[in-house]
Amino acid sequence: MESNQEINSMPRIGDTAPDFEAVTTTGKMKFSDYAPGKWKVLFSHPADFTPVCTTEMSGFAENQSTFDEHNTALIGLSIDSIHSHLAWVNNVRQKTGVYFQFPIIADLDMKVSKLYGMLQPNESETAAVRAVFFIDPEQKIRLIMYYPLNVGRNMDEIVRALKALKYSDANKVAIPLNWQPGDKVIVPPPKTLEEMDARIADKSIEKIDFYLAKKQL
Ligand code: BEZ
Repeated sequence: MESNQEINSMPRIGDTAPDFEAVTTTGKMKFSDYAPGKWKVLFSHPADFTPVCTTEMSGFAENQSTFDEHNTALIGLSIDSIHSHLAWVNNVRQKTGVYFQFPIIADLDMKVSKLYGMLQPNESETAAVRAVFFIDPEQKIRLIMYYPLNVGRNMDEIVRALKALKYSDANKVAIPLNWQPGDKVIVPPPKTLEEMDARIADKSIEKIDFYLAKKQL
């Protein structure tokens, strides 16, 4: 019997992404060596040949060019064999013309699922939940999503979250609710009385109050 510690390994935002070696649909992978210099989006699905998963994987594939434009590598995962993955990828390609060209990990021994908290036994003891990990080029986990088996994810939000992370890094700003590229961003709040007075006097930015200000970059 495995310890709860192993089953419940839950990486957190800011942690270094746990490293692993795995078999994937594009060959063997050592995660820390894969796609150097790129962002990575590592996502799990509960099972091949299931309907919600097929819509989600198709969504990732249909947005491949957007991820490419944002210097981001996609990596899928489920607790299925490589044979199942290959048959499913081929089946979806034949039936719909959508091709999952990104690697999909065959995590039959559940090693990676456990490492990333994708196996949540009160939801399922044998299938990974729908997780998404956004990992920056320094291998730091920057954003995590977990969805249950019965609710599909939102591809627009996955793409928006990636753009928001990168925009925030590039411009040293915080990103408000429902932000879309081109929208105003949050100016970091002042940390001293002097900065607060400067903020109060600043007429160039949109202010609700000194601590809640937005600007157009
Ligand atoms: C699905 O992808 O349709 C699915 C997979 C596992 C459990 C429930 C739904």
